[in-house]
Amino acid sequence: MSRFERRALDPSHLRPRRTAFTFPSSIPKHWLAGSPTQSHFFNAINLFVVSFEEFMVRVMRDRLPELKEDTEFSRQVRGFMGQEATHSYVHEKFLNNLREQGYQIEGYLSASERIFTHWFEKGLGQRVSMSMIAGFEHLTALLAEIVLADQMMKPAEPFMAELWEWHAAEEIEHKEMAFELLRRTSRSYLLRMAGVLLGGVVVLGFIGTGMVMLLRQDGELWRKRTWRDFKALLFGPSRMALRSLGIFLEYFRPGFHPNQRDNYSLAESVFQRAK
Ligand SMILES: [Fe+2]
Ligand SMILES: [Fe+2]
Repeated sequence: MSRFERRALDPSHLRPRRTAFTFPSSIPKHWLAGSPTQSHFFNAINLFVVSFEEFMVRVMRDRLPELKEDTEFSRQVRGFMGQEATHSYVHEKFLNNLREQGYQIEGYLSASERIFTHWFEKGLGQRVSMSMIAGFEHLTALLAEIVLADQMMKPAEPFMAELWEWHAAEEIEHKEMAFELLRRTSRSYLLRMAGVLLGGVVVLGFIGTGMVMLLRQDGELWRKRTWRDFKALLFGPSRMALRSLGIFLEYFRPGFHPNQRDNYSLAESVFQRAK
């Protein structure tokens, strides 16, 4: 039985799917291909998206009054917010598994909460935060495309495979929303660029720090296989580093729009597979 609602992809009517995710304690620490490096790459994302997705919802909710004339678009933004809030809620559930497995994650979690709330939301303000969110959403859609196209979750523990495939598919489904919201509130190319660069630094910083922290707690950080797996993840058959860079740079084209990338069929296949 699928742990998320079986509903066809529909980017023009966004709303969260019902979910029933549980994460039994039988899920191993290194749930992706038995590899600490690959598992902690996704665990690190899990750690910071909980507060990042809540931050996105707050910033976008604050923009809603500006859209009151545009009821159809406001409804779509609300659907987007519902999906992100559900992602945050489900990923938060998995944090308990990490705690039970003995990982010390509270410091990281409170630091990420502080950074998004105080540094970005209050420090940099709503406009820059919105632009960073649009850039970040480009990066998540990029990663979602690679995860699904390369079937990266094939060797994963089944509960975890379902979690990440569901999240990746909804990221593709709503990939336009943050970009569109930014476009409706600012046409500044410079602001858009600042956002994606900041988003890139945030993503790399949080993934890198999270991975180092978890690998160190496992005593795996300086093992040869950790670095071999890391090299394989970035430069192996799926050439994640090069492909990510290529897709990342597309955002710099002045006429760029997320819907120019044809990747809906990848998300569609996840929702069709769900039973
Ligand atoms: Fe999400
Ligand atoms: Fe998203």
